[in-house]
Amino acid sequence: MTQPAPPMGLIAELTHRCPLQCAYCSNPLQMDAPKTELSTDDWRHVLDQAAAIGILQVHFSGGEPMARRDLPELVAHASRAGLYTNIITSGVLLTDEAMAALLAGGIDHIQLSFQDATHDGGDRFGGYRGGHEKKLAAARRIREAGLPLTANFVIHKQNIERVEAMIALGETLEAERMEIAHTQYYGWALLNRNALLPSREQLDYVNAVVEAARARLKGRIAIDYVVPDYYASRPKACMGGWGNRFINISPSGKTLPCHAAETLPGFTFPSVRETSLRDIWQASDAFTRFRGTDWMPEPCRACDRREIDWGGCRCQALAMTGDVGRTDPACHRAPDHDLMAQAVVEADAETVLDLVPRRLHQAAHD
Ligand code: SF4
Ligand code: FES
Repeated sequence: MTQPAPPMGLIAELTHRCPLQCAYCSNPLQMDAPKTELSTDDWRHVLDQAAAIGILQVHFSGGEPMARRDLPELVAHASRAGLYTNIITSGVLLTDEAMAALLAGGIDHIQLSFQDATHDGGDRFGGYRGGHEKKLAAARRIREAGLPLTANFVIHKQNIERVEAMIALGETLEAERMEIAHTQYYGWALLNRNALLPSREQLDYVNAVVEAARARLKGRIAIDYVVPDYYASRPKACMGGWGNRFINISPSGKTLPCHAAETLPGFTFPSVRETSLRDIWQASDAFTRFRGTDWMPEPCRACDRREIDWGGCRCQALAMTGDVGRTDPACHRAPDHDLMAQAVVEADAETVLDLVPRRLHQAAHD
């Protein structure tokens, strides 16, 4: 049997703990409790295995990865193993001391998320008073340390009118790259979809703003733009294809083909506590079931884009149609494509914009 190429990246979800409470968090509603988290030694072992099987990059994520005190140690270990290290963080815990420890560990890159362009909006949508100010300070520390900064702005119907101000903020912070990302509807975001999904007019507005900013900032700041699937005619190649480019490891050590995979029924996701990363990647049912094209139904099976988008997102197929093996409804050729338009109509009609904030303790014990 031909073995698959090694994954490009490892997404190490160190913890589901987080000081913020974003209502669009992609973490599962049922989060891993702190006492179940992998130990420092467990993670060291995982990082060694990752390097040994040819993984190139590790993305430390969460929750908030900086809530783990051993993060600098894990960065240092990954760095020694030859892995490129990136941290995806809210930045609110990135003090001078934390920055110094990460630099000493050899951190290569930091990706900082913003909830809005303003203090008021940032603190409100992040559910953390004073959080926006801390993020601005974190961005300055990253740049002063000489590290590249990627500023992520998550947009939705309640902050979308400030997208120009977000881009201006990214320029002021001297980000090398910005990501303007419409909320992706998994986990908590799916729960809050009607209060977050923008209208067609709002989407058109952002499209025009981003296009103009890209032209203006060309050669200076790269802008990645992630559109909501609900308005797409083609799905995204979620995670670059199932079991194709990434391994995601949950705080308690479950290996997942994507961050939302735990919502999929009928799977056993192997633990790094019991199985080697190599075996998981090459042979586990969890990683091979939707790998490649053999599993595909029509219309994907005969479609010339099947090795471009890999039939879209399995988690979205499940969430929208109840069947994990169907074509992602984001595709205009999918039999369920009209479900996306229905969701937009539903969100447009929503008058209550209250958000259910992400909460670890609530999710862990509900
Ligand atoms: Fe992609 Fe399947 Fe749609 Fe073709 S039919 S574009 S492979 S999702
Ligand atoms: Fe799970 Fe797309 S989020 S496959």
